[in-house]
Amino acid sequence: MMAEVPSPAVANPLADELTGARHAKPCALVIFGATGDLTKRKLVPSLMGLAKDGLLPPGFQVVGFARRAWTDDSFRQELADGVRQFGRTDTPSAFEALRESFAFHQSDFDQPQGYAALRERLEQIDRHHDTKGNRIFYLATPPSAYSGILQNLAACGLSKEGDGRFARVIVEKPFGRDLATAVALNDQVRAAFHERQVFRIDHYLGKETVQNILALRFANGIFEPLWNEKFIDHVQITVAESIGVGSRGGYFEESGIIRDMIQNHLLQVLTLVAMEPPAALTADAVRDEKVKVLKAIRSLTPAEVAQATVRGQYARNFFGGEEARGYRDEDGVPADSTTETYAAVRLQIANWRWSGTPFFLRSGKRLPRRATEVAIQFKQPPHLLFEGGRPLQPNVLLLRIQPDEGVSLRFGSKVPGPDVRVRDVRMDFRYGSAFGGEHADAYERLLLDAMIGDSTLFARRDEVEEAWRIVDAIVAGWRRNDQRPEPYPAGTWGPERADALLGAGRTWRKP
Ligand code: BG6
Repeated sequence: MMAEVPSPAVANPLADELTGARHAKPCALVIFGATGDLTKRKLVPSLMGLAKDGLLPPGFQVVGFARRAWTDDSFRQELADGVRQFGRTDTPSAFEALRESFAFHQSDFDQPQGYAALRERLEQIDRHHDTKGNRIFYLATPPSAYSGILQNLAACGLSKEGDGRFARVIVEKPFGRDLATAVALNDQVRAAFHERQVFRIDHYLGKETVQNILALRFANGIFEPLWNEKFIDHVQITVAESIGVGSRGGYFEESGIIRDMIQNHLLQVLTLVAMEPPAALTADAVRDEKVKVLKAIRSLTPAEVAQATVRGQYARNFFGGEEARGYRDEDGVPADSTTETYAAVRLQIANWRWSGTPFFLRSGKRLPRRATEVAIQFKQPPHLLFEGGRPLQPNVLLLRIQPDEGVSLRFGSKVPGPDVRVRDVRMDFRYGSAFGGEHADAYERLLLDAMIGDSTLFARRDEVEEAWRIVDAIVAGWRRNDQRPEPYPAGTWGPERADALLGAGRTWRKP
């Protein structure tokens, strides 16, 4: 019998290296816009997910900063409701245990006295909870408030680091509405914080299945040799939602799907699929490779935009047994709106690995179902022996990001029997059956990483700006071409013209 191996001591730094476990240092988190939806639905339920898993640092404290005249009590009550509604199993009890760690601070966002008082409050927290002067500021307000917050944080010295203390800022999307506004916002952020202190959220990067793109590619030997234009015919990245814009009509009307989804989530996923292997899994090594992909995507000319993009807008229809409103009937949307709720785009990455392999991106609201996936479609074998030489269904490696999380591979197999027939079959990995249990929400991972100071899963300044450059050219082309969205009935896969975008012999997947 083998001797029992003692479990490694937790304090041993090597143990961390072996288990991959990472620990956050004591700190206080200030949430600007703490009375808003994001705090209640996502941030605090995610913090309680971390608490439940024992991942919050000792002494952790939260200060909610907002304009409304709430008290500590009313704030805590609202958060308790949020955790009950939106948190994972057992998070309400985690909240009860930590209730006293949440405080409310009322102030306007551009009022210097409010920040002086915040500073005092944080110093008190340091004294009572040993948070050691470490602070994280979360901008969860409408973007119009960012500038006042950043200036005031800098003016009262709260953005400064020193003596082993950290000060970090987490910025929510939308990060600008075009390249010029993103550059201006980056400049404002930079005036208060160094880039290493800045954590720009793209919650898709916090999803396990999105992180798994790098693991699949670079922790395995079998995929990477095929991962290039020689073997891959094209890549489809789909983020489909069945919901409409709901109560966010006013916001959506100003952004459209191109700014709301493609500029950030889809282009981020594209960079992970297309990047070269980084030299190490460090924040800058990974992001250097991601940004190279974006730089290799040329800005489309208006003539190319007409050929390489399709815009759609959902129209009223009966689906799922109900009548779904058209986008133009949604609250906050003008009856003659020309904002797209669907877009499909063909992009070309001009480098050695991908030259000639198009990447097709599509995203839409009110599509038949919610599904995010990356489909890597391989080329046909060079010589077709089976089925009378007719091309068979191509091999597809499908990365299912959500909600049916997993990876599958489609390939041809001989149908049992005396005839030589080939049919496609699927090899399937499912997260649920392989790993079981409940996944942490994307925000849990991102909040923890911000506390640890790991910015690998956050967008760097140059990434955000390159993504806007690509999107700006598309938006400019639409304007120049007067390319308005084509209506598609709610509950369908978008305008039919999107099929033509793919080119002969290719079809969009229907998840
Ligand atoms: C947000 C968009 O960033 O992502 C929303 O603003 C969209 O319009 C949402 O619904 C989708 O996120 P998820 O995680 O549900 O795919």
